[in-house]
Amino acid sequence: MAENTNTYLQAAKSNRDDEFYTTLESIEKELTHYHAQLSGKTILCNCDNPFVSNFCRYFIIHFRDIGIRRLICSSYASSPMFNRQISLFDVPDGIRAYALDVDEDHYDDFLEIWSHSDKESILDSGYVYALNGNGSFDSDECIELLEESDVVVTNPPFSMFRDFISLLEEYNKKYLVIGNQNALMYKEIFPLVKDNKAWLGYNNGDMAFRVPDDTVPRKTRYWVDSTGQKWRSLGNAMWFTNLDVDRRHERIVLENSYNEEEHPQFDNFEAIYVSKVSDIPKDFWGIMAVPLTILGKYNPNQFEIIGEANHGSDNPFDLFKPILNGKEIYKRILVRRIS
Ligand SMILES: C[S@@+](CC[C@H](N)C(=O)[O-])C[C@H]1O[C@@H](n2cnc3c(N)ncnc32)[C@H](O)[C@@H]1O
Repeated sequence: MAENTNTYLQAAKSNRDDEFYTTLESIEKELTHYHAQLSGKTILCNCDNPFVSNFCRYFIIHFRDIGIRRLICSSYASSPMFNRQISLFDVPDGIRAYALDVDEDHYDDFLEIWSHSDKESILDSGYVYALNGNGSFDSDECIELLEESDVVVTNPPFSMFRDFISLLEEYNKKYLVIGNQNALMYKEIFPLVKDNKAWLGYNNGDMAFRVPDDTVPRKTRYWVDSTGQKWRSLGNAMWFTNLDVDRRHERIVLENSYNEEEHPQFDNFEAIYVSKVSDIPKDFWGIMAVPLTILGKYNPNQFEIIGEANHGSDNPFDLFKPILNGKEIYKRILVRRIS
């Protein structure tokens, strides 16, 4: 047990930035757009402690109105149980991985137990059981659960975002997951965006997360609320998905016209600089370097994504380092109008 506890504490320490817990409000705001697409589906939340995660809570609350066929939530053994209901040193329970598994036929019975019982009785009911392994999303046991699922919905560990999405792609799954927009430029992620296999959801940008009690205070994007709960926020969070979103069917209204001063050419590549998405000229058909925010706004029938201008060397789609009048500027997405 000492060894387990050590491993657990080490893992918890080395992955502090993975411990960002999503609020029910953030989940509600995004998920409300997808109920029809989730109807009749088996949903997997595979980085989610059934007793703690708000993803799990959201789907339990909305099980019937979405029309979920089956809900599976599995947790990772090393996740610190920051929540006050379950102590950090609740060993061995605190270091175990659990899965909740309920289908439409058993939901009413499950809800009765879930709403009126303590953790022990819930475990006794069998709707939540301890996994044999550590609950890692890529463990054999969790891959079996993935194979039985249609859609994965979660906030995965930021440090494993590329492996996480690669696994979902390998198993050809639908997904809706939270990430950091910096991940869009990863060589495993960008091709998905470029080829219209995945895109951004509805609510991107600022997002607040609960963080564990031992989070080290920071000067920015960190606060403690009146209950003593620590929080952090990201300014560039994203919902990343291959479920359909309305925006992809709506054209961006372009009102600006091309002019050389407002849309200068790059020093080292035949493309024009466009400061804001709203400045995209309606009468230009060449390559335009636009801010990353285009990815939360564009319609694939109006624009094609050509590549990125970042370091000019990160991957085959990183076409050049963006240099304007001798000065390097922040990374941009390269797009071209197609209609
Ligand atoms: C960003 S947090 C989000 C937790 C929860 N999904 C939520 O939204 O509140 C990611 C969680 O994944 C857990 N985790 C880390 N490595 C994992 C792995 N290999 N498999 C599954 N979960 C993992 C972390 O411990 C952490 O609790």
